[in-house]
Amino acid sequence: MTYQFPKDFLWGTATAAHQVEGNNINCDTWVLEHTPGAPYLEPSGDACDHYHRYREDIAMLAGLGFNTYRFSIEWCRVEPEDGFFSTAVLEHYRRMLATCHEHGLKPLVTLHHFTTPRWMMALGGWETPAMMERFARYCEQVVSYLGDLIYAACTINEANISSMLASMNYLPPVDMLRESDWWISAARKMGADPSNMMPFMYASTDTARHVILETHRKATIALKSGKTNFPVGITLALQDIQAVPGGEKQAQEARFLINDYWLEAIRGDDFVGVQNYSRMRFGAEGSLTSEVGVETTQMGYEFWPEALEATLREAARVAQIPIIITENGIGIADDSRRIAFIERALQGVIRCLKDGLDVRGYTYWSAMDNFEWNLGYTPTFGIIAVDRQTQVRFPKPSARWLGNIARANTF
Ligand code: GCO
Repeated sequence: MTYQFPKDFLWGTATAAHQVEGNNINCDTWVLEHTPGAPYLEPSGDACDHYHRYREDIAMLAGLGFNTYRFSIEWCRVEPEDGFFSTAVLEHYRRMLATCHEHGLKPLVTLHHFTTPRWMMALGGWETPAMMERFARYCEQVVSYLGDLIYAACTINEANISSMLASMNYLPPVDMLRESDWWISAARKMGADPSNMMPFMYASTDTARHVILETHRKATIALKSGKTNFPVGITLALQDIQAVPGGEKQAQEARFLINDYWLEAIRGDDFVGVQNYSRMRFGAEGSLTSEVGVETTQMGYEFWPEALEATLREAARVAQIPIIITENGIGIADDSRRIAFIERALQGVIRCLKDGLDVRGYTYWSAMDNFEWNLGYTPTFGIIAVDRQTQVRFPKPSARWLGNIARANTF
C-alpha cells in the first residue's frame, strides 16, 4: 500500500559543521582532539572539506530528490574572538544558504552543534551564565546577516546529550576528568581553568542543564528579534527507554532525565527536533548492553528502527508542539541494512502521521560519511561515501532509494 506524505513534508539529510567542514581550529573539540591522551581515535582534520565543497554537495543532495538540508553554522568561525565577528565567514554561510535555495533545498540551520569557541571555554564554557548572553549575541549576528535565507533554526543540537551519556555511564565523572593530564593540558591551551572548564559533551551537571536551557531561551528571543520570522526550536537525542523486569524504576528515572525533563522545558517552542538512533533498556542495575540475538550497528548499540516511533509519540505527548525529525540514521557498512533500517523507521513515522501526530519532516543522519567524534571516521552513517584521500563523493544505493521516496513524497 502506498502512503502519500503530507504536502510540504520535509525530506532531507543532516550534517554538522565540525563533522564535515574540516579544519575547525578555533573550537574546543579541535584542541581536545589534538592534546595527548585524547579519547579520540583520530582528529577531524580536513573532514569532508565541505567548507569548500558545499556547492557540489548541495547540488548532489538536490539531484537525489531531497527538498531540505540541515547543516550547522559554526560559532567558532563566525566569532573567532570574543565580540569579534567575521563578515567573510558570515558571507560564506550566506552563499551556502543561497546555494540551498538555488537548488530548491529548504535550509534547516543549527546554531550550535557540540563545538564551542576556545575563548568561550576560557570563560568557563557550559557552566557559566556568561554563555547565555554570548550565545544570544552570536544568534543576533546570524539573524541579521542571514535571517532572510533561513527556513527554520535549531538553537542547540541535542541539548540533553550529556545527560544521556551520563545515564549510560559513558561519561567519566567530571572531577576525575578535571584531574587528568589530557584535560589540564587542553584547558591550558585554551587559556581556560581546568577546574571550571565545561565543554558541551560533558555538561551533565544541574548547573549545566540550567545554562543550556536558559541559553536556548535567550537564543530563541535573539533569533526572533530580527525582521525575519522563521520557526525556532531545539533538538533532543530522545531514547526509546524500555524496562526489563526489575528495571522499571531505573527506566522511569532515565526517561525523565533523558527525555521528559527536556520535553517539558520546551513546551511553547515552535517545534522540537527529534533525534533517535536506537532503544535503551534498563534493569535493576541500570542501563543494559544489547540484548543477545539483536543485531548491532557500528556504534555498538542495537539495530532498532522502531525506537523512532516511540520517541515521536513521547515527544508529541509531553511537549505538545510540532515535530521535525532532525536526525535518524544508522552507522553500518552494509548499505542494504541502512535501507532496511530507514524503511522500518519510516513505517513508524507513517503510523504516527495516521494517528494525527504533527510530524513535519524527516532528515536522515547523515548526508555523507563523516567525523563521528570519539570514533573518528570509522562509523559510516552517510548515504554518500567519501574517499578520504581524494574527497570524491560516491552516492550509495540508499541515497537513490531515499531520494526517490523524497521526490515522490510517497512510500
Ligand atoms: C549526535 C549528533 C551527531 C552524530 C550522530 C551519529 O547525535 O551525536 O547530532 O553529531 O554524529 O548522532 O552518532
